Amino acid sequence: MIRHLPFSALALPLLASSAWAQATPATLKAAAEAVGLNIGIATNSFNVSNSAYATQAKNFNMVVCENEMKFDNTEGPIGTFKYNGGDAVSKFAADNGMKMRGHTFIWHSQSNTAQSAVKDRTSGLKVMRDHITAVGGHFKEKIYEWDVLNEITADGSGGLRGSFWRNNIGDDFGDSAFVIARRAVGENGYLYYNDYGADGVNTKSTSMLNLAKKWIAAGIPIDGIGLQSHLSAGIRKDDISANIKRFGEQNLRISMTEIDIKNATATDWSNLMTACLENFNCVSFVTWGLSDQNSWIGSNCGCLLFSGSSPTPKTNFIQALIDAMGKADPAIVAKRKEFAARKPGSVVGINRANLINTRKSPAGGLLGAASVPVFSVGGNTVVDAMGRNRPIAPNSPWASGLSIIAK
Ligand code: XIL
Repeated sequence: MIRHLPFSALALPLLASSAWAQATPATLKAAAEAVGLNIGIATNSFNVSNSAYATQAKNFNMVVCENEMKFDNTEGPIGTFKYNGGDAVSKFAADNGMKMRGHTFIWHSQSNTAQSAVKDRTSGLKVMRDHITAVGGHFKEKIYEWDVLNEITADGSGGLRGSFWRNNIGDDFGDSAFVIARRAVGENGYLYYNDYGADGVNTKSTSMLNLAKKWIAAGIPIDGIGLQSHLSAGIRKDDISANIKRFGEQNLRISMTEIDIKNATATDWSNLMTACLENFNCVSFVTWGLSDQNSWIGSNCGCLLFSGSSPTPKTNFIQALIDAMGKADPAIVAKRKEFAARKPGSVVGINRANLINTRKSPAGGLLGAASVPVFSVGGNTVVDAMGRNRPIAPNSPWASGLSIIAK
């Protein structure tokens, strides 16, 4: 039966049964490219080295490390960096013409190395600066979208979540993270804030929208919002679409970054894709894993597009996505392509004087990185290379080259 054929064999038989067969490209990747969308999976260095897995992974045009670029996987002990997992996945992406997301710089979880070194505002800013500067500097140019901040909004009533980052640095910790990230990765790479439970219009997503508006007004270099999209059957298309639209009104990109739909039907997949396609600013659609077999929520989740340890496509779900893309409004597709092509920094601009030089010194250190001051909105100090607080003053050597936004 067709469901046991390799995914690449799906194209012709299914195409013939489609009413818009002439216009609809035959594969997931081709259909996504036709509508200006990145379509991706979370993965890891072990899986991409397996040929059966890699064959199916090539049906996508974007990847993200499920764990290997998180804080604890890239830094430990503090000040010692390792990039092997991310490097292997990034090589797989480059070899196969895929884009890559970078997940994630600042999160309260899987960040024990950071947590034990962060004791107050100064040490918190220093740990943040050194991590983003090193990891961002290493992967710069290779990463299309960075999750600078992950899960910083509280559930329920909204507002910031308590975390070791926030509790030590203060409520402006995210401001510094974005500025440091832009300096570290240079002019390429869209900078995101990523969170869960904010897929539809609700208290949490409204709180995130208000935070993003505050950042934009203050010149904090955000480019987009990641909607993790950990969902269950019964997708509410109109609610999700309305939420994406209000971020589009701020010119913010939306990426669905960690999609899994527990016990999904083909209609659920179609509805989630359509919620994205209805909005010009929805640019990436990324599932959190390739096969149910490796899903973080369990191999019986019924939540991804493939199943089994040798990943087997769920052809009805994949076809539902292709069909939804075949029905995309051409006017929105054209607008998405124009919007997606805008450069990183388009929302608030890039202060090129702030970009640091991340060339390697002969000893392997980052030239320039040691003298990067830290910036925060609403604060009245910057932190110098030694982690000392220095007052912001006109022509301060500590603030040289930075745009400081005063209280
Ligand atoms: C999960 C991974 O999938 C698991 O393998 C790991 O044990 C824990 O983290 N939100 C995120 C992701 O931003 O990084 C999380 O990934 C899932 C929830």
